[in-house]
Amino acid sequence: LQNESSIFNIKELGDERGALTVIESMNNIPFDIKRVFYIYGTASGIRRGFHAHHKTRQVLISVAGKCKVHLDNTKRKKEVELDSPTKALILEPNDWHEMYDFSPDCVLLVLASELYQAEDYIRNYDKFLEVYSV
Ligand code: TYD
Repeated sequence: LQNESSIFNIKELGDERGALTVIESMNNIPFDIKRVFYIYGTASGIRRGFHAHHKTRQVLISVAGKCKVHLDNTKRKKEVELDSPTKALILEPNDWHEMYDFSPDCVLLVLASELYQAEDYIRNYDKFLEVYSV
């Protein structure tokens, strides 16, 4: 049984100096963070992602600018907008995802539960349907 990908809010610790937001493994995100990467300088009109995973869970946060994410777990499709450094998407492995409508200043931070392993990716949509529809 898979969890449902969902949006959650991260508390902002703001004061007159500005804002600060904290992410802690196993505290406000539900896994141990093994890998961090960020996507930025995305060219206009680009769509990227186009994969699901076998095992990797991720959290996506647009720490600057904004983008949208298309999610498809074979039973439902949805579009979410990441437009705030306090808005996080928990992306479960069974969601085929495509990121799009990046603003030129978008920095999309991704926290992952696993190290990079090409074998954990499902990059073929028909294969994805085979693995996850049932
Ligand atoms: P890719 O998976 O194509 O990005 P996206 O899914 O966002 O479209 O990744 C781009 C390249 O970076 C690809 O050659 C794999 C490599 N890569 C790593 O080496 N380590 C990583 O952790 C990630 C996410 C990608």
